Amino acid sequence: MSSLFAVKSMETLRAEAAETGEHSLKRVLGPVNLITLGIGAIIGTGIFVLTGQAAAQYAGPAIVLSMVLAGVASGLAGLCYAEFASSVPIAGSAYTYGYATLGEFFAWIIGWDLILEYALGAATVAVGWSGYVVSFLHDFGIQFPAAFSAAPGTVVTMADGSTVTALFNVPAVLIAAAVTALLIVGIKESANVNSAIVIVKVAVVLLVIVAGIAFVKMSNLHPFIPPNTGAFGDFGWSGIARGAGVIFFAYIGFDAVSTAAQEAKNPQRDMPIGILGSLVLCTVLYVLVSGVMVGLVPYTTLGVPAPMAVAIDAANKASQGTSWAWFVGTLPFLVKLGAIAGLSSVMVVMMLGQPRIFYSMAHDGLLPAWAKKIHPRFRTPHITTIVTGVAVALAAGFTPIHILGELVSVGTLLAFVIVSLGIIFLRKNRPDVHAPFRTPWVPFVPILSAVVALALMASLPGATWLRLIVWMAIGIAIYFGYGYRHSELRKRIEAGGN
Ligand code: ALA
Repeated sequence: MSSLFAVKSMETLRAEAAETGEHSLKRVLGPVNLITLGIGAIIGTGIFVLTGQAAAQYAGPAIVLSMVLAGVASGLAGLCYAEFASSVPIAGSAYTYGYATLGEFFAWIIGWDLILEYALGAATVAVGWSGYVVSFLHDFGIQFPAAFSAAPGTVVTMADGSTVTALFNVPAVLIAAAVTALLIVGIKESANVNSAIVIVKVAVVLLVIVAGIAFVKMSNLHPFIPPNTGAFGDFGWSGIARGAGVIFFAYIGFDAVSTAAQEAKNPQRDMPIGILGSLVLCTVLYVLVSGVMVGLVPYTTLGVPAPMAVAIDAANKASQGTSWAWFVGTLPFLVKLGAIAGLSSVMVVMMLGQPRIFYSMAHDGLLPAWAKKIHPRFRTPHITTIVTGVAVALAAGFTPIHILGELVSVGTLLAFVIVSLGIIFLRKNRPDVHAPFRTPWVPFVPILSAVVALALMASLPGATWLRLIVWMAIGIAIYFGYGYRHSELRKRIEAGGN
């Protein structure tokens, strides 16, 4: 039973990283590339879609405070991720950190949980992508059939006020299939393409802030904290907390920087810069842009698939007759285009990360060997990429975005709790490990990080918790049914090594 908590030694991890031989990754990324990578993974459906939903359903104009709260939670966890990434500079994410500090069982728990973050995260982004594409086509007079643009049972309100009940979300399935195909053929995650998309995304958000701020109506911001309706999370302070739990999704992705550890020129110094730098920049942008959105239109109108477009449309109308009109008039088009490009790049990062995690788990014997098969010609993990793609497409086609987004948030927050506590174990068990970046005030910061993440989890609806518990129960059953018996580490321990 003790092997359940056996840790994989840092020395083994480093040796495995060095094993890659002729297929080793090129160390080309500097600090700016890593910050860009982080922003590429962070800015997506969260800010383009869920901000509007969280404002409309939970927090009202106080979504700005939810943003700050979620940013603080992410920053605390980011400090812990940064120490791990600089002390275990190996591509492998939180799963590997768990294996090195808390042992195999927790590593499996994190790995299983990361499926929620990466695969379901990609599904959430696919649904966001669908919303913006349908809205973009509409601007060109093309009506995508409403019955095929949302999850089954979703009631879609048409422009003329009539309603249609949706059957499934075709554009979301199509984008999931397209990204899967690209990843199988092995599209090289080109740093230049990523940088170009990041510039577009950041420019769009900045334009919305700059153009929108002049047309903010103070009346939209009153009352800043709408009174609670009596139910937990329905506005008021609990609504701010629930809004933070939902909008936390917008910050997910900074941890994806850690998956590029083996491609960084100086990972021990630059990983923390990439993780924390991208996080700080996005926090500032998010607080400002969410404030502008709820200032432009009544928050109740933002619970739609393309809320940033709704807000900027209002600025556009308000600008008519002013010397700004030509500039603001271009924004609805730019926002949609920026969102469509930006969301696609988030999906690529997430659907690239998921098969790598499956690969690591299969390498450790916790998943069957087929999960680490590499395509002979494309040299990509094609089987796990297809499995991921099918799962993403099904989830995206048939599940409403708020259910997906909340499940991703709760799952990622759970990973944050475990990673934060992992720092305390790392310091205690391996004081000799050299980490150029050290989380300040240990154990205070890791404990606070875990407590804040748990509090955000607690603010999410009970149904989301139930889904998380069912998901983790399935994972634990699979571990004891398969992983525990096939673990490579356990075999090595039984053979007298580690
Ligand atoms: N933070 C990423 C997004 O909002 C996952 O799409």
